Amino acid sequence: MKKQFFVSFVIFLVVFAYAVIRYNIIKGTPWIELPLFISNKAISLSAVVFIALSYALGSLARFWPKTFVSALGLRKFFGLLGFGLAAIHGLISLLIFSPAYYPKFFLVGGKLNLVGELSMLFGVLAFFIFALVAISSIPAVVKSIEPGRWLAVQRFGYLGLILIFFHVFVMGLAGWLKPAGWPGGLLPISLVAAIVIALALLLKIAAMVFPKETNEIKV
Ligand code: HEM
Repeated sequence: MKKQFFVSFVIFLVVFAYAVIRYNIIKGTPWIELPLFISNKAISLSAVVFIALSYALGSLARFWPKTFVSALGLRKFFGLLGFGLAAIHGLISLLIFSPAYYPKFFLVGGKLNLVGELSMLFGVLAFFIFALVAISSIPAVVKSIEPGRWLAVQRFGYLGLILIFFHVFVMGLAGWLKPAGWPGGLLPISLVAAIVIALALLLKIAAMVFPKETNEIKV
């Protein structure tokens, strides 16, 4: 099995186990909700991890070229994998999008509240951006765009990450501020996602501020 498939499988398994332990085992969410509701949490966090990883590899290669330059070719793999999972996440979310599953997004009358409206807006906009980035990585499209423009489209993905940060920030903040209520003391998945995104963005900022070491590597 190719290394990247194995690494991806292990990452997904760890994230999935985290969701099952936090929600089904400790919090007592019924097992009947595992196929969609709980899996969707694991799928969405994995999407964030893979997309963040695909962007972080460039910055990591700048600081530790010996370790990471050889992995730069995996950026496309992780990015597309993350995008695919984000698409599945969007689809599952819409399938079960109801006050019964997500009371925090709805008003009593059944319309969305501000948290629901804002967080869904950020999610949809981010998905649109990731779709553009994914389309731009199709070989025929790569050839048809001037390299500088192509890089600009790829970098647009950072805006997608920032939007996902707000997607989870808006929906998660109230829960983040109540650690006493976290099942088993385990961080909410939305908070884990926000931390992963913040790390990827900080790495990028660090790579921009300290660009010297390996000038030949484009991130
Ligand atoms: C069509 C666009 C999208 C829709 C409709 C959507 C919908 C949702 C919904 C309903 C939730 C709440 C899930 C829950 O609490 O169980 C959620 C959470 C989340 N979404 Fe999205 N989303 C979209 C795009 C994205 C994208 C593009 C990403 C990442 C690349 C993403 C990552 C996340 C993460 C990490 C969570 C937190 C899960 C949790 O706290 O359990 N979403 N999204």
